[in-house]
Amino acid sequence: MTITKEQVMAALSTVMDPELHKDLVTLNMIKDVTITNSVDLSVTVELTTPACPLSAEIEADVNKALKAIEGVGVVSVKMTAKVVEATKIGGDKDLIPTIKNTILVGSGKGGVGKSTISVNLAISLANSGAKVGLMDADIYGPSLNVMMGMKDTKVMTKDGKTMIPLERYGCKFISIGSLVDEGQALIWRGPILEGVLTQFLKDVDWGELDYLIIDLPPGTGDVQLSLAQKIKATGAVVVSTPQDLALADVKRSKDMFDKVKVPILGVVENMSYFLCPSCGERTEIFSTGGAERIAKTYGLDFLGALPLDVEIREGGDLGVPIATEEGPMTDTFLEISKILAGKISMLNYKQAEQEKKETFSVKL
Ligand SMILES: Nc1ncnc2c1ncn2[C@@H]1O[C@H](COP(=O)(O)OP(=O)(O)OP(=O)(O)O)[C@@H](O)[C@H]1O
Ligand SMILES: [Mg+2]
Repeated sequence: MTITKEQVMAALSTVMDPELHKDLVTLNMIKDVTITNSVDLSVTVELTTPACPLSAEIEADVNKALKAIEGVGVVSVKMTAKVVEATKIGGDKDLIPTIKNTILVGSGKGGVGKSTISVNLAISLANSGAKVGLMDADIYGPSLNVMMGMKDTKVMTKDGKTMIPLERYGCKFISIGSLVDEGQALIWRGPILEGVLTQFLKDVDWGELDYLIIDLPPGTGDVQLSLAQKIKATGAVVVSTPQDLALADVKRSKDMFDKVKVPILGVVENMSYFLCPSCGERTEIFSTGGAERIAKTYGLDFLGALPLDVEIREGGDLGVPIATEEGPMTDTFLEISKILAGKISMLNYKQAEQEKKETFSVKL
């Protein structure tokens, strides 16, 4: 009895990617098939992100399909990942050629937790094995240097021009707070501001990145618009709290991202409910679920909810974000980061398919 590679590929072509609704062979996810002793199989599956929310499910399905081959011996499945690059249709590719995906984190309202969520999502993605960068686009109120625990470390340059990003918790990051002294940036206006943000993209030695998370300043004004326009971001995450007032801002954020044609990857509800630190009891301070409802109303995806939790705040203040430690909140951030990574993969896949179709019809 000898098993052939064709038999293996045929078996694998029955395994579907649950989100893309295509089989793994068609999706070119099978990277290596080795047959030893005629019947022992070793297969490598390459996912579109190391933070794939469906990794375990796909691995189990592959195992099952291979074990169903008649006469099969030992089956070994290896899961790897290579993040897909955004197509950046119409965007300025040269600005950041080594960054595969840029994700804007924004909200119409201030203080809803954009920076907290940016930091913890970046760390969660890095913990999954992705190459992650974090950029503080909040020039007037930078906070990432504090949240990343590097308040007093200043950025160095390589040659007087190229900035070397700081590194912590597996992420590269840059913040205006790591360049100038507190308060100094407050006197900057318009063009200087825009120049700094462009510099953060093109004059920072980011290296190869799978994801660059950009923490936007609050609001839907010129800075946010021009940045979103310039880089043609892969997508945006909108952060909201459940109060009615904050929810109205989701619409404003949506309108802004629509205007610059940045797809919204989803909405995160922050400070959704209160978790008592001593008894663990959950209290609904506002009407929890508001952001999910509002997301649905505008046809946006919901990525998850985070409680008002003293450890989340302390993590930010102390410069040791909660995602760096083990615990239930860390799991929640990890889960949200995986949903987000999955959405990015899907979006890129669909856009690539769309581009293929467009080239095809042009050829015709
Ligand atoms: N889920 C949470 N539980 C407890 N505290 C939180 C939570 N999310 C954020 N915070 C705290 O709320 C404050 C504001 O959060 P953060 O700075 O992340 O908001 P922001 O939207 O980035 O604000 P800004 O609009 O000023 O940039 C911080 O002190 C932060 O630690
Ligand atoms: Mg902020």
